[in-house]
Amino acid sequence: MKIPPVKGTRDFYPAEMARRNWILGGWKQVSICNGFEEYDGPIFEHLKMYQVKSGDEIVEQLFSLQDRGGRDLAIRPEITPTLARMVNQQINSLPRPIKWFSVPRLCRAERPQKGRLREFFQWNVDIIGIDSPEADAEIIFTALDYLRRTGLTSADVKAKISSRRLLAAVLESLGVPTEQFDSMYALLDKKAKLPAETFAALLAEQVPDGEQARHIAAFMALESVEQVESVVPVSEAVSGAIAELKNVFATLESMGVADFCVFDPGIVRGLAYYTGVVFEIHDVVGELRAICGGGRYDNLLRDFGGPAIPATGMGMGDCVLEILLHEKGLLDSQVPRRHVEYFVALADPTLNGTMYEIAAQIRSRGHSANFSYKLGGLSKQLKEATSQKAGACVIIGQEYVDKRELVIKDMTSGQQSLVGLDQFLSELEPD
Ligand code: HAM
Repeated sequence: MKIPPVKGTRDFYPAEMARRNWILGGWKQVSICNGFEEYDGPIFEHLKMYQVKSGDEIVEQLFSLQDRGGRDLAIRPEITPTLARMVNQQINSLPRPIKWFSVPRLCRAERPQKGRLREFFQWNVDIIGIDSPEADAEIIFTALDYLRRTGLTSADVKAKISSRRLLAAVLESLGVPTEQFDSMYALLDKKAKLPAETFAALLAEQVPDGEQARHIAAFMALESVEQVESVVPVSEAVSGAIAELKNVFATLESMGVADFCVFDPGIVRGLAYYTGVVFEIHDVVGELRAICGGGRYDNLLRDFGGPAIPATGMGMGDCVLEILLHEKGLLDSQVPRRHVEYFVALADPTLNGTMYEIAAQIRSRGHSANFSYKLGGLSKQLKEATSQKAGACVIIGQEYVDKRELVIKDMTSGQQSLVGLDQFLSELEPD
């Protein structure tokens, strides 16, 4: 009986595993450079954890299960609720600001499509305990810092930045009732994915007042924060949110990534818990879904029973990123290939005991070594060494029997030299 893999999942053969390790390794390295510490949580949580604040979209995509005690559980579709729970549990002993990162494996029961799978890895960086816009900027910078280091430029990707706080202030200043905000967010979040007429029709349905709808449409079409005051009535709340966004852009400019950043009021974000600055990073061509998304969520810790502590963060998946890096020729050229430092080969098949012994000696000094199980002629062994991308071959032959000397063949230059076994091993010792 042949059982196929589950749709929307991936098998990581060594070549795919090398790419995954390179991407995840880069995420970890950039997190540490930007001052974040790593954490992780369980892969499943109580189902209600995601029903509280993640929003309908995530709830519809849950893989849920019941344990033997009848408890409703769900495999994590995101790690932000776990982070809020973990921080709340130790809130009094954790030094602030909390700057944590994680690279969880997540599952969402989505319809698989280009860049969207049912199981994926997601890099998360979050800052908890700081309510200033500089923290939002640091999150955006960290995501861009990683993308920049892979070789992507501002001609390839853009961080589209907006603010839920600004949107709420604009809706309020236009007289849209507060109870309607959540459904407005859901509609405005879909604007980029809908044909213009469909969006206009849905907007008219939600906002029957033509004047209000025109203002909202004008706001949604803006290209810079400076223009906001020219299209909506300016209230104190609107001015406050504008000042905050300007601060984010100014900080990103100081950090040297201004060319990657644009204001885009169409960024609302699907998750229900965002309260302030929100952003997504997209490929410039716009063919792919978001590479990354995040924002400020100042109420989530309180909603999970903790104190009111401000928080901001982002998540970047590995799927869209990998497609984009591949399309730009930045993936296989940078992913390290399989590499064995030493391949121990035999010119005289009777010496195979020595081959195992020398391979073990090399390995015990912290270097990688392989040998052939087939023990054909030397040329066959050298071919195997080439296919394993060995750096050098250590050939055991007559010189070893006569003088305990090895032939070391550099596989790049093809040059050979004779070295005594003791000298060879002592040179492998760590300094
Ligand atoms: P999200 O927008 O749901 O945010 O996901 C963030 C990123 O995860 C997306 O931009 C995408 O790269 C990746 N992603 C999401 N779903 C899938 C999928 N089915 N297949 C492949 N990749 C996917 C969050 O999850 C927030 N918790 C992020 C956050 C952290 N906000 C604050 N802190």
